[in-house]
Formats: sequence, structure tokens, C-alpha cells
Amino acid sequence: MHEQIRVCDVEKYYGAGNNITKAVNRVSFSVVEGEFLGIMGASGSGKTTLLNMMSTIDRVTAGNIFYGSTDITELNEDALSDFRKENLGFIFQDFNLLDTLTIEENIILAMSLHGKKKKETDKKVDEILKILGIDEIRNKFPNQVSGGQKQRCACARALVNEPKLILADEPTGALDSKSAQMLLGTLIQMNQEMKATILMVTHDAFSASYCRRILFLKDGEIFNEIVRGEKDRREFLNEILDILALTGGDSEYVK
Ligand SMILES: Nc1ncnc2c1ncn2[C@@H]1O[C@H](COP(=O)(O)OP(=O)(O)O)[C@@H](O)[C@H]1O
Ligand SMILES: [Mg+2]
Repeated sequence: MHEQIRVCDVEKYYGAGNNITKAVNRVSFSVVEGEFLGIMGASGSGKTTLLNMMSTIDRVTAGNIFYGSTDITELNEDALSDFRKENLGFIFQDFNLLDTLTIEENIILAMSLHGKKKKETDKKVDEILKILGIDEIRNKFPNQVSGGQKQRCACARALVNEPKLILADEPTGALDSKSAQMLLGTLIQMNQEMKATILMVTHDAFSASYCRRILFLKDGEIFNEIVRGEKDRREFLNEILDILALTGGDSEYVK
């Protein structure tokens, strides 16, 4: 298995003097190509801060983040913007769709059209819409479709450039349980069929149970790590819930 990302002693501090918040405190770990990695922790534990530094949205205070041999903490803004376009797909909790464009147009907008022929673009969009089961709603506007459909559109948008890495911050946070399950199924599909590495931040144990490995954050530090291995999802869910019970996680999920 190929190492894809290496996070080395990364720190992020906010504020100054006596008023410093250590949002992320000397965190180190690696991500292997093709992994489905979860990052869990109570609200305020530093999940979003960590993900944003890995996705180049935010700068580290100290430490390094390597993608292959490239240290992204050393890239300038132009290089970062190219890096994002080439390598990353984002899925946010609030979908970030444009209301004045149709579902299909939202997806096309996200494509790096540079040098691509219309036929090639159309084919790719068709394929993604079908894989994600939103083919029939392609001409509707975001306010005419359900939350789950919007979130799948957000997935399509993240996927259409075939990114090597998908970063999702609480992607099921705004969904009812049925839509959440569909989205998680979609992420599994993106991971297995399209070979995308997925990094998913969540405070929800049910969502986390879809991952292959989970890092637990507390007060900005990794305090535990578990691997699903041969366990089925139910067993893995119980293991996650046990850890949360021991450490006072804020998952609302009840066994
Ligand atoms: N822009 C910011 N300015 C100051 N403090 C921040 C900022 N962003 C996050 N924090 C603080 O950093 C800590 C971690 O926040 P965050 O990464 O959003 O946690 P999580 O995503 O796990 O809820 C919290 O204490 C939060 O208040
Ligand atoms: Mg967060």
C-alpha cells in the first residue's frame, strides 16, 4: 500500500499571549492510498481545523503535510490553488450548491473545463449522474430536490474531476437517517469503484462505522485509533460507541 499523505507534528494555534487556543496540537499520522479514514471527536476537538489544513484551506502554525514528496505547507497561493484543482474534491455539510443553476449545471461548473471537449464533458457528467442515482433530477434546481439528493449532487461535484482525495466535513450532518445512509453508501462506492481516498470528519458513530480506520481527537490531540479489519459494520459501531462512552464523546447515536 502506498502512503499518500503524511501529517507531521502539525499544530494550529488561535489567538495570542494568555489567550491561546491549541486547536490542533502536535498531530502526526499517515494516510494510505485508497483508504476510507474517519476523524472523530467531540465538538471543538479540532476536527475541522485539521481537515482544513490538510485540504490547504487553512495554514498550519507549525509542522508539515506531505502529499507524496510535496510539502504543501511550503506552497504559495497559486501553487495551492493548482494543487486543490488537480487533487482534491470537497463535500461540505451545507452542500454549497448554487440555487440559480440546475443540478447538472452545478456539476458542470465544478469541472475543470480547460482543454476538454464538450462531448467528453457531457459523457463524464452523464456517468456521474447515473452512478449517484440523480439522473432524473438533472434539470431541476436545488430548491426543487430533497436534502439527500442535494448531498449526492455535492458528491457528484466533488467526484467529477476524479480527485485522488475526497475531503468531507460532517457530510451527513444535515441529513435524515435514510439520506445519511444513502450518502454513506455513495462514499463507499466512490472509495471502492472509483478508488478515491476518503477523509471524513464526523462526530456521529453510525457514519464513522462505514470507515476502515478511525482517528479519535480530543483537545486537538489524537488519543486513539481503531481499524475495522474483518469486523462487520455493526461490531465496528459497537467498538466506536464503547470508545465514545469511555471518553465522553458527544455522539447522539443510541445503541
Ligand atoms: N477561526 C478561529 N478562531 C479562533 N478559534 C477557533 C477558530 N476556529 C476554530 N477555533 C477553535 O479551535 C478549536 C477547534 O475547533 P474546530 O476545529 O472547529 O473543532 P471541531 O470541528 O472538532 O468542532 C475550538 O476550540 C474552536 O473554538
Ligand atoms: Mg467541525
